Amino acid sequence: MSLYTYFTPTKVVFGKGAEDQVGTLVRERGCKKVLIHYGGGSTRRSGLLDRVEKALDSAGIAHVSLGGVVPNPRLSLVYEGIRLARAEGVDLILAVGGGSVIDSAKAIGYGVAADGDVWDYYDGKRQPTACLPVGAVLTISAAGSEMSNSSVITREEDGLKRGCKSELCRPVFAVMDPELTMTLPPFQTACGCADILMHTMERYFNHGDNLALTDGIAEALMRTVLRYALVLNEQPDNYEARAEIMWAGSLSHNGLTGFGTDGGDWATHKIEHELSGMFDVAHGAGLTAVWGSWARYVCRERLDRFVQFALRVMDVEAAEDDYQTALRGIEAMEAFFRSIDMPTSLTALGVSPTDAQIKEMAEKCIQAVGGKALGVVRPLSIQDVAAIYQAAK
Ligand code: NZQ
Ligand code: ZN
Repeated sequence: MSLYTYFTPTKVVFGKGAEDQVGTLVRERGCKKVLIHYGGGSTRRSGLLDRVEKALDSAGIAHVSLGGVVPNPRLSLVYEGIRLARAEGVDLILAVGGGSVIDSAKAIGYGVAADGDVWDYYDGKRQPTACLPVGAVLTISAAGSEMSNSSVITREEDGLKRGCKSELCRPVFAVMDPELTMTLPPFQTACGCADILMHTMERYFNHGDNLALTDGIAEALMRTVLRYALVLNEQPDNYEARAEIMWAGSLSHNGLTGFGTDGGDWATHKIEHELSGMFDVAHGAGLTAVWGSWARYVCRERLDRFVQFALRVMDVEAAEDDYQTALRGIEAMEAFFRSIDMPTSLTALGVSPTDAQIKEMAEKCIQAVGGKALGVVRPLSIQDVAAIYQAAK
């Protein structure tokens, strides 16, 4: 196994009505005034924001609010949040929403805690040294930001979407009530399931040694998501299925399913981030549109992993040779994506980049990893990445 650090400081309160505890959770941190950060209106419409405000009032916690986070959250709102949080003397950022809201809250947390331009952390100029505590009330099972060490922000003037990773931003608490996800449109539920699968797949397809226990956990998680995503496709109000998917979302991205590995590949995520930076597509749908092309391009380099995935996760019959078995596994995953109405090509995603745009995205992918090769299963050059985008058309 590889040397690996596992750090999960997030206190999780999970189940029906969990959001009523949010005031107590803030108070037990010794915090007195929070910035409630939220998105485009779903939390207002569902009455969740009112309940959160009431829970804070009951615990004697003062609060100010900033809504308007959009999917693929924007830097300009982060700046606004930093100004507001400073002016109001806020000591905790409370994200009420999904990955976009939580990521924006993390960026505000960095910006309030240290001087200088917060974007420096996202374009790799500096590493954060402090972050205001962030708490999350999760409304969509998807990005896993409620327990992750990562935050992804888009600078709108040039569509540059960049992530920042540091242990400082892991939320101090995450409130997870599966019922809150029942108001999601089916497309967002499916995008979330795809993203959850991908967070474990990115770690599963690595280029190092693997622990049997970690593989077992990862495979159980993927099979669980495959099963309950289909249940939700038919029965969006099924509480058990919502709960299974919600917990899978957090465990898929808190480091557990990569324990003892080299960390995983992550090329598909980088390839998608350029797509959503340029075309503003939903993250989960962008991932499913390119994953098959990536998998076919690299699978010969780790046939053992792709065969194991095909047999243990996708439950396909072994073919006459390993490469064919690997391909069957990839095809089965693409068929699953389509069965929950996720796209498996750029055309189905609704974008048709020109050759020049593909070149630009491929160059930005490599820039984002400091000019080095992208991914570990088969380290990719600009030309390789461009070929993957082309094959995904
Ligand atoms: O803004 P509102 O009105 O709340 O609507 C949101 C949004 O339009 C809606 N929604 C959320 N909960 C809802 C709901 N609608 C009805 N009922 C509810 N209960 O869903 C839409 C999508 O929300 P968003 O927060 O964007 O989804 P997600 O959690 O998938 O986050 C995506 C962002 O996270 C980043 C992605 O790149 C993307 O920017 N990621 C963050 C990661 C991390 N921090 O660890 C890892 C991921 O790989 C990912 O890159
Ligand atoms: Zn993701």
